[in-house]
Amino acid sequence: MEASDTLKQLLNVFWLRPETALWREIDIRTMSAFEMRSPSLDLGCGDGLFSFIRAGGELDVSFDAFRSVSRMDKFFQNVDVFDSYDENQSSAVIKPPKYQIDVGFDCKTNLLKKAGQIGLYGTLKQGDANKPLPFPEASFNSIFSNIIYWLDSPQSVIAEISRVLKPGGTACLMLPNITFPQFSFYKQLYVNGGDDRWRFLEMLDRGRFSDNIRQAKPLDEWQAMFGQAGIRIERHHYHLSKLTIQAWDIGLRPLFPILLEMSRELPPEKRIVIKAKWTEIMRTFIEPLLEIDRTLPGNEDPAFHCFELRK
Ligand SMILES: C[S@@+](CC[C@H](N)C(=O)[O-])C[C@H]1O[C@@H](n2cnc3c(N)ncnc32)[C@H](O)[C@@H]1O
Repeated sequence: MEASDTLKQLLNVFWLRPETALWREIDIRTMSAFEMRSPSLDLGCGDGLFSFIRAGGELDVSFDAFRSVSRMDKFFQNVDVFDSYDENQSSAVIKPPKYQIDVGFDCKTNLLKKAGQIGLYGTLKQGDANKPLPFPEASFNSIFSNIIYWLDSPQSVIAEISRVLKPGGTACLMLPNITFPQFSFYKQLYVNGGDDRWRFLEMLDRGRFSDNIRQAKPLDEWQAMFGQAGIRIERHHYHLSKLTIQAWDIGLRPLFPILLEMSRELPPEKRIVIKAKWTEIMRTFIEPLLEIDRTLPGNEDPAFHCFELRK
C-alpha cells in the first residue's frame, strides 16, 4: 500500500480528528522499514486501528473510530470517550491486513473487543503493562509499542520487552523526545508560564500532558536505558516537528463533541457523501504538512524518536 493510501484510510477512520490521521501517517512513514515477524506483539494495541492500517487493511467508508464512543458529555473532563464497545456493530473490513500480529495487549477491555473485530490479531490479552508482562521469556520475534511513555517506569517496561524478545528479535518503539512537552500549548503557556489566563487550556489538554504523557527524554538517555536492558539501536529516526505537534495539539479537538453530534444527525447515505468531501479537503491540508514534517523546519529538535532495536 502506498503511503498516500494509508493516509486515505486514516482519514476515513479519524475524519472528525484529522490531527490524529496526520500524526499516524507520519508514524507509518517513519517506521516503514520495520517488519513485524511472527511471533509478534502489539504492546498497547488499543482498538488496533493504527496497526491494522499500517498493515495495509482497509475499512468500509461507513466505518469510523467514533461509531462506538460514550460519555461524550465528560469529554472536557478527561474521560476516555473511546473506551466503549457496541456489540451490535458489524465488522467493516473490506480488505484484510497483509500480515497478522500474534498478540495484541492492552489494559482496556472495550478497546480489545474492538480490536477483535478487524481480523489483525491472533490473540488479544488484557493486562497492565506497569506490571511484569504475562509472557514467558523469549516469546516474540517482533514487538511494536507506542505506549511506553504512558507507563510509570520506562526502564522496567524496556527490561520486560527485552525479556520477552527472542535473541535476535526486534522492537519498534515510539518514544518522546525531551522537546515534546515543550511544544504543548498547555505546558508552555499555562504550566510553565504560570499565567492563570491560560487555565482554559486544561480543557484542550484533556489530561494528555498533565497525566498521560509521563516520559520525554533525549536520545542519549533512551539509549542508556536500552543498553541496560541488553538491546541495541539498529535505526533511529526523529519525527514529528514542532509545527505538526502544535497542529495536532489543537486540531479539531475543541469542536469534536459537537462535530460528532452533528455527524450523527445525518442519514447514513448523506453522511458518506459529506464525509467524502470532508476527507478530500483535509487531505489537501495534510499532504503539504507531511512534506513539511519530513524536512523538519526550524531550529527545534523534533518531538519524537522512532527506535528500531535488536536484542
Ligand atoms: C495512545 S493509545 C495507543 C493505542 C494504539 N497503539 C494506537 O496506536 O492506536 C495508548 C494505549 O495504551 C493503553 N495503555 C495505557 N496504559 C496502559 C497500561 N498500564 N497497560 C496496558 N495498556 C495501557 C491504553 O489503553 C491505550 O489503548
